Amino acid sequence: MRYLSRTTTPDPMAISVAFVCLGNICRSPMAEAVFAHKVQELGLDDQFSRIDSFGTAAYHVGEEPDHRSAATCRKHGVPVNHRAQQFTRGEFDKFDYVIAMDESNKRDLLRIQPKGSKAQVELFGHWKKDPKFQTIVDDPYYGGINGFETNFKQLTHFSEEFIKAVL
Ligand code: 4NP
Repeated sequence: MRYLSRTTTPDPMAISVAFVCLGNICRSPMAEAVFAHKVQELGLDDQFSRIDSFGTAAYHVGEEPDHRSAATCRKHGVPVNHRAQQFTRGEFDKFDYVIAMDESNKRDLLRIQPKGSKAQVELFGHWKKDPKFQTIVDDPYYGGINGFETNFKQLTHFSEEFIKAVL
């Protein structure tokens, strides 16, 4: 869980964002770390009230990110600090955007979203502008380190475009 370190009071319109994958040990903790790092780099901390990540499943709750996910972030100078947690129905009213890595994550989220919830559930790739990137952030768990590197490049591009689109 990451609360942004601040020197200023958050904007009253500040946005809350949850990144969601299956296990919350590979893709979504990387998305959270990349996105939060980008927000800090751009000096936009006061525009975001909360940036966090979750899994739709509970298998890995309490675990640190997969070592390959953490190593890929650190190689690019992005700090990672997270413990896996599951996204449950009660989380929907805490976030403006609930951002899925793949179609299966998105379906699972929509299935549990309470009626009347105003959270926007969308694929992170929805904000993609550069056609060289794939929209879906593929599950890298059973593959090699290259999958994590591909995820990192996608997540960096999606973060930049999401920030431009929502601010
Ligand atoms: P993630 O990757 O959803 O990106 O965290 C996975 C992590 C664990 C498993 C599947 C995907 N698993 O089956 O345990």
